[in-house]
Order: sequence, then structure tokens, then C-alpha cells
Amino acid sequence: MTDRTAPVAHKINALMQARWSPRAFTGAPVTAAQEATLLEAARWAASCFNEQPWVFITARKADEPEAFAKLVSVLSVNNQSWAPQAGLLMIGFHRTTFAANGAANAVAMYDLGQAVAQMALQAVELGLGSHQMRGFDLERARSELGVPERHEPVVAIAFGTVGAPSLLPEKLAEREVAPRVRKPISDFAHLGQYGVPVKL
Ligand SMILES: Cc1cc2nc3c(=O)[nH]c(=O)nc-3n(C[C@H](O)[C@H](O)[C@H](O)COP(=O)(O)O)c2cc1C
Repeated sequence: MTDRTAPVAHKINALMQARWSPRAFTGAPVTAAQEATLLEAARWAASCFNEQPWVFITARKADEPEAFAKLVSVLSVNNQSWAPQAGLLMIGFHRTTFAANGAANAVAMYDLGQAVAQMALQAVELGLGSHQMRGFDLERARSELGVPERHEPVVAIAFGTVGAPSLLPEKLAEREVAPRVRKPISDFAHLGQYGVPVKL
């Protein structure tokens, strides 16, 4: 796998440091066992009231080509230029209301994000890359994937074996090797009150 290890300012967990969002997938299969491990990682995410409001529509390229093609078809044109070479695609939804009382669940999308983050880290341990995408047709995801009312599509995710940047069109290949950058901690962490520098 291309080494895109994050140039961290402080030591962090090795899986987090190794995770990145590749576009150059080889097309190699993701197995059912690997998919099960990813979904198990999602399953054990924390959620408000243990509601577990996430739903994933999934398809493996090698084993489930029709379902895979349907998921590809809802992706944006840009994402369709690389994501079909992933071995596994998912579209993540969140249920917008609590099952017990029908009240709005204001943190359901947050919980979905935690489940996806756990899969992204689990993918690293499996030797797979993962790439999250907002670039897909929300309306078609709603209408064509059979997910019930009170669920909202949020994110598509590609998982697969990472290949060389040369697998990609030139513009995307350049992005594949561009420096990895982040805001400094001082931009988003504040001591006690917004604007007061955190002491580290
Ligand atoms: C919710 C979400 C939506 C994203 N949507 C897209 C997308 O539609 N297409 C794409 O190529 N990358 C997409 N990305 C990938 C981001 O551009 C990427 O995570 C970001 O540049 C940081 O890079 P890194 O994940 O390699 O650290 C998305 C990421 C997230 C978390």
C-alpha cells in the first residue's frame, strides 16, 4: 500500500496514523469475511441510547456485481472515475428518529459517523484502504436502495486494495501523492473558552 503515514505533531495510534483516503484501488476482491469484520467494527461503535441508528447498503464487486453496479450508478461522475475499482462499496444511512418513541434523534448522523470511522480504522488493520464520499445522488440512493422512511443517506464508502497512483487519470494521480495537511490543534482546541489558546 502507498505509504501516506500522517506526519503527526504528537504520537497517535498507528491505525489512525496510517489511515488515508486512496482513490487508486486495484479492483481486487474484498472477501465476505473482510466485509463481516468491517461491519462488526461498525456494530461496536458507541451511539446515543445505544440506538445504533446506522444502516449500510453494501455490495462486493466480485461476488455481487449487480448490487455493486447499482451502488456505482448513484455515485457522482467524479467518484465514478475511480470508485468502481474498489472491492466493496457501501452507502451509509442514519435513522432520524428513535425506534422506541419516534422522537427525533439529533445525533443519529454523528453516530453513523462514528460507525464509519471504526470501519475506516478496521480497514487499515485488514490491509485495505477506505474512501468516504459525499459525492453521490441522495435522491436516487433514497429511491433505489429500498431503505425505509425516516432514514437519510449520508455517505458512500469504498473499500479495497490500494494500488499505484498510476492507475488513476493524471489529475487524480497528483492528488494521490499530494502532501497530507491538517489545521494545527490550536485552530480547533481552546482552553475553557473559545479563542483562549490551549496549553499543550
Ligand atoms: C463525509 C466525507 C465525504 C467525502 N466526500 C468525498 C467525495 O465525494 N469524493 C472524494 O474523492 N473524497 C471525498 N472525501 C475524502 C476527503 O476529501 C478526505 O477524507 C480528506 O481530503 C482528508 O484526506 P484523508 O482522508 O486522506 O486524510 C470525503 C470524506 C468525508 C469524511
